[in-house]
Amino acid sequence: MAQLWGGRFTKETDKLVYAFNASIGFDKRLLTQDIEGSIVHARMLGNQGILTQKETEEITGGLVSILEDVEHGKLVIDESFEDIHSFVEAVLTERIGEAGKKLHTGRSRNDQVALDMRLYTRYQVQETDLLLKRLLEVLIRIMEENLETYMPGFTHLQKAQPLTLAHHMGAYFEMFWRDRLRMRDILERMNYCPLGAGALAGTTYPLDREYTAGELGFAGPTLNSMDSVSDRDYLLEFLSALSIVMMHLSRFSEEIILWNSDEYRFIEMDDAYSTGSSIMPQKKNPDIAELVRGKTGRVYGDLMALLTVMKGLPLAYNKDMQEDKEAAFDAFDTVKDCILLFTGMLDTIKFRKDRMAQSAMKGFTNATDAADYLVGKGVPFREAHGIVGRLVLYCIEKNTSIDALPLSEMQAISDKFEEDIYDAVSLKTCVDKRLTIGAPGREAMEKVIAVYKEYLK
Ligand code: ARG
Repeated sequence: MAQLWGGRFTKETDKLVYAFNASIGFDKRLLTQDIEGSIVHARMLGNQGILTQKETEEITGGLVSILEDVEHGKLVIDESFEDIHSFVEAVLTERIGEAGKKLHTGRSRNDQVALDMRLYTRYQVQETDLLLKRLLEVLIRIMEENLETYMPGFTHLQKAQPLTLAHHMGAYFEMFWRDRLRMRDILERMNYCPLGAGALAGTTYPLDREYTAGELGFAGPTLNSMDSVSDRDYLLEFLSALSIVMMHLSRFSEEIILWNSDEYRFIEMDDAYSTGSSIMPQKKNPDIAELVRGKTGRVYGDLMALLTVMKGLPLAYNKDMQEDKEAAFDAFDTVKDCILLFTGMLDTIKFRKDRMAQSAMKGFTNATDAADYLVGKGVPFREAHGIVGRLVLYCIEKNTSIDALPLSEMQAISDKFEEDIYDAVSLKTCVDKRLTIGAPGREAMEKVIAVYKEYLK
């Protein structure tokens, strides 16, 4: 057992208690951030004359050597230590002697872990953002290639009005764009440095918190030491933003699963992103999309876990807060994997334009346009709605579609129908006439895509 305290204890910690209390099994992934923070802390202590120049150099040199040795496999993190902070300090002292024992001057593990977690989370927010950017790039490519790929748009999962694949993908572009904006907001709000808050009430040493904050890339030091060691809001914000990313990915996955089904056959999934069945030889399953949909529940669970851990905690630090890590790490890893895999899957999907167009032609997706046509001929909309309703009923009885009906049969329902109805209800016209900004018409879409590309630049 290797721990940083013990002076006031007369007995060894019970072995089970020690193991229950220890966090090195998961906080070992904060090694880089822990060392980065300690180096800056030591330099600051040196600048302030709290450590000598020699001590500062020994400490920073020792810390760099520890990081390098772990990275090169020459030093293995010893999990018999209580946490990563104890491990680093022990190895440092073993390597450089007395000076190592001075690193923790003016610092507590409470502000140390608050810093490590913030640095690590900041990095994860940036990584997630980059993965989202890549996803947006794939979406833009699909949009540009499918400005005239007609497909049915659905409400209630019933065919509603025709649109294009570009427009459908554009809806997801908007969602993941907002997800990136949320990442940016979170980064901005969280980017203040808790180091120097001490255990909860600051310290009596003349620490230069502006210096450490600046060196570690923060906008400034945090302004209340109790809040600094107690705050996990930024993690909750990130976990909620990640939950929203997963909700978006999950809806998209659901559509891909539907589109991949034999009933739709809108898409062909790449073999590299599908799996087979051990018993049914014909199967090609969309497992990646299903797993992304499934893992959404897990990320929501991580958010709920942390919200619940935090809800009753009095100020300031409580050991409960150690429970932030496994939930957060699980969410970070899960969401990054999901975005990465989903992007690869999406990028390799083949869209069956023929199937999509055929589907758009069935299901009376042009009924609204037929009513609008009558409005253009002077029929009030409510009346036009009734006429087209009867036309649809007639088509259903005859098992045909509006555009395939002879003009004479249409005219039997309303004499306002003329030869130009066929052009008015063609898929191309139905889509291309929708030109208000945000609509699927080609010109409207081209303007929107130009905005997206400008943003991605
Ligand atoms: N492992 C602890 C955590 O993750 C580090 C802080 C320990 N502080 C303490 N006062 N016991 O929260």
